[in-house]
Amino acid sequence: MKKIITMMAAMTIASGMTAQTHTFDVNTTKVGSPISKTMYGIFFEDINYAADGGLYAELVKNRSFEFPNHFTGWDISGKVTLKDDGPFNKNPHYVRLEPSGHRDKHTMIENHGFFGMGVKGGEEYRFSVWARVPDGGTAKLWVDLVDNATMSDDQKLGNAGVEVSGKEWKKYTAIIKPKSTFAKAHLRVWGDSKVTTDVEHVSLFPVNTYKGHENGMRKDLAESLEQLHPGVFRFPGGCIVEGTDLATRYQWKNSVGLVENRPLNENRWHYTFTHRYFPDYFQSYGLGFFEYFQLSEEIGAEPLPVVSVGLSCEFQNGSNRSDAHVPVDQLQPYIDDVLDLIEFANGDPAKNQWAKLRADMGHPAPFNLKYVGIGNEQWGAIYPENLKPFVEQVRQKYPNIKIVGTSGPDSEGKEFEYLWPEMRKIGADLVDEHYYRNEAWFLGTPDAKQRWGNCGANRYDSYKRGKGQPKVFAGEYACHGAGKKWNHFNAALMEAAFMTGLERNADIVEMATYAPLFAHVEGWQWRPDAIWYDNLRKFNSCAYYVQQLYSVNKGTNVLPLTMNGKPVAGNPDQDGLFASAVLDKNANEVIVKVINTSDKPQDVTLNLKGMKGSHEAQLITFHSDNLTAENTLDEPEKIVPKTSSLSVTAPSQNVIIPAHTFYIYKIKK
Ligand code: AHR
Repeated sequence: MKKIITMMAAMTIASGMTAQTHTFDVNTTKVGSPISKTMYGIFFEDINYAADGGLYAELVKNRSFEFPNHFTGWDISGKVTLKDDGPFNKNPHYVRLEPSGHRDKHTMIENHGFFGMGVKGGEEYRFSVWARVPDGGTAKLWVDLVDNATMSDDQKLGNAGVEVSGKEWKKYTAIIKPKSTFAKAHLRVWGDSKVTTDVEHVSLFPVNTYKGHENGMRKDLAESLEQLHPGVFRFPGGCIVEGTDLATRYQWKNSVGLVENRPLNENRWHYTFTHRYFPDYFQSYGLGFFEYFQLSEEIGAEPLPVVSVGLSCEFQNGSNRSDAHVPVDQLQPYIDDVLDLIEFANGDPAKNQWAKLRADMGHPAPFNLKYVGIGNEQWGAIYPENLKPFVEQVRQKYPNIKIVGTSGPDSEGKEFEYLWPEMRKIGADLVDEHYYRNEAWFLGTPDAKQRWGNCGANRYDSYKRGKGQPKVFAGEYACHGAGKKWNHFNAALMEAAFMTGLERNADIVEMATYAPLFAHVEGWQWRPDAIWYDNLRKFNSCAYYVQQLYSVNKGTNVLPLTMNGKPVAGNPDQDGLFASAVLDKNANEVIVKVINTSDKPQDVTLNLKGMKGSHEAQLITFHSDNLTAENTLDEPEKIVPKTSSLSVTAPSQNVIIPAHTFYIYKIKK
C-alpha cells in the first residue's frame, strides 16, 4: 500500500503525535442524491456599505442632493443654492451655482465620496452631470479629481471640463484620467464664475467596471463573486427587505428605470447599531433589480429575490403593532409587487409594462427567474396569515415559481418550531433558516446540543424528507466565534466542518448562502463577512475560501461515507473529525472532504469501495497555524487553499490529516 506523504503529513508522522486510526469508508459505487445546482450561493444585502460605497461602482455620495441633509457629503463654497424643481420627479433637488460677483471667489461643490474616492493612476473615470444654463447661453464647468489630504504642490490628480449650453436639462460627460493612485480623492465641480449653472445627478464611475457596464459594479469585487461560482444569489436582504417601517422597506419598483430617477431610501444599517453609527448611509438604488438580475446572469447564479410580506422588521416593531404591519385585507399592492417582479424578470415585453421596462433597459430576453422569497425573518401567526394570499396568487399565475418561506431569525426555539409546520401547511417549496452561532453550535458539541437542540453537522440528518416536505435553504449563517466575533481562520474551519452536513443532506438542503457578503473596512456594521475592501483593495476572507472550496468541489451526487462504520457527525468517537464525499460525474472524480477540527494530527484510513489500483489525485489544503489569523488588505493571500498533485491507492490508503485543517481529495475515478 502506497502512502501519501504531503509535507505537512510528513511532519506529523515524524513527530509521532497521531492517536488512534480512524477508518473512512466511501462507497464510490452507491451514487446518492443529486446535489442541487443552487448549492452554494451568495446573499447580498446593503449592509457594511456593500452596495453604495462597495459593489456599486459609483464614487459620488448623495449625487442627486436628496439626502435629508441635502449637502451631506459635499463641501460648498461661493454662491451655491439648493433648488427643488429639477428634471427628475422622484429626485427633484439640484443645485444652482451662481457667480460670486468676484473673479477669484469660485463657486464650487466638492464631493467626499464614500470614505473618499479610490482612483487609480492612468485609468479612466467617467464623469457625468445633468446641467443647464437657466438664463440661456453657455457655461464652462470644470471638474477636478483632487487629493487635498497629502502635501502636494498641486492638488489635482486629474481634471476635465464640460461646456453646458441652453436652458434645457441635458446630460454631459467627460473622461478624467488621474495621474496617480489615491484612495481618498474628492471630486470638485466649479463654474467659470461668469454664468449661473444648474447641476443635478453628479456622478463619477470607473470606466473599467465589471463587464464594462456604465451603471456598473466595482470590477474586483464582482470578480470575487464570479470566482465563487455561486449557484444562487439572494437579494436585496435581509432586514432591508422589511424596513424599519413600511415606508422604508425595499421597494423594487423604485430600483428600476432611469437611474437618475430612482428615489433615495433610508438604510436601516445607518442607525441600527449605536456603536457603529453611519448617518450618511442611504440606498441610492443604483444597484437595483435590473443590475441584480444582470449580475446574476453574468456570474451564473440563479436569482432569488426576497420581497416584503407586508411586515416591517419585527425586531424593531414586534409583531403586534398595527401601524407597522399590513392587515391581510390590504395586502394586494404588496402581492402585485411580487407578481409584477416576476413579469419584470420573465414576462413578454409586448404584453407587460414591467417586462417592457426590462427590455427598454437593455435585456429583452427573460432572466428566467425560478425562485422568490417572501418575507425575511418574520415570526408569529401574523407571518403565515400574510404569506398565504401571496402563495395562492403566485401559484395561480406562475405555478413553476418556487416559493421560499422563512422559519424566523433563530435556528431553533418556539418560533422556529411553530413556523416549520406552518410552512408545510402553506406549501412553501423551501424554508429559509438563519444561524449566526458560536463554534460549539457549528461543531454540534454535547453542550451545544443541550443548549440549542439540533445543531452541528448532523442537524439535517433527522429532518423530514419526501413528498410534501419543503427543502431547506440555509439562507444566512456564519460562525460567530465566542468572544471573537470577527473573521478568523478557526471560524471558517467550523463552517467547513458544519457544511459536511449540508453536503451529505443534498436530498433536502437545496441552497445555502453564507452571510453577510461584503464589508467596507471603514464602514462595517456587522462582522464576520465574506469579502472585505477599502476604496482600492480587497481581500477574500477565510470564510470566503471555505464557501469557494465547497462551491467549486460540490460534485454532482452524494456518496455514502462512514467513520469506523458509523456516521461521522455525532459519532462518540468523532475525535474532532468531519467528512463527506461526493461524486463528480462530469469530471469522473470522487471528492472527499475531511476537516480535522482537533488540535492533533489524525491518522485516517481512506477506503474507496469500488475502486482499485493507483489513481491520479489532487489534494487541496486549507490551513493556518494561527487559528485567529485572517487575510488582510496588506496580506490578502496569507491564508489561501493550496493544491498539490499526488496519487492515491485504492481501495485503501492511509493518510494523516494535520490538526486544524480542511483537506479535499479529488481522486480521478
Ligand atoms: O445579515 C445581517 C442581518 O442578519 C440580516 O439583515 C438579517 O436577516 C439577519 O438578522
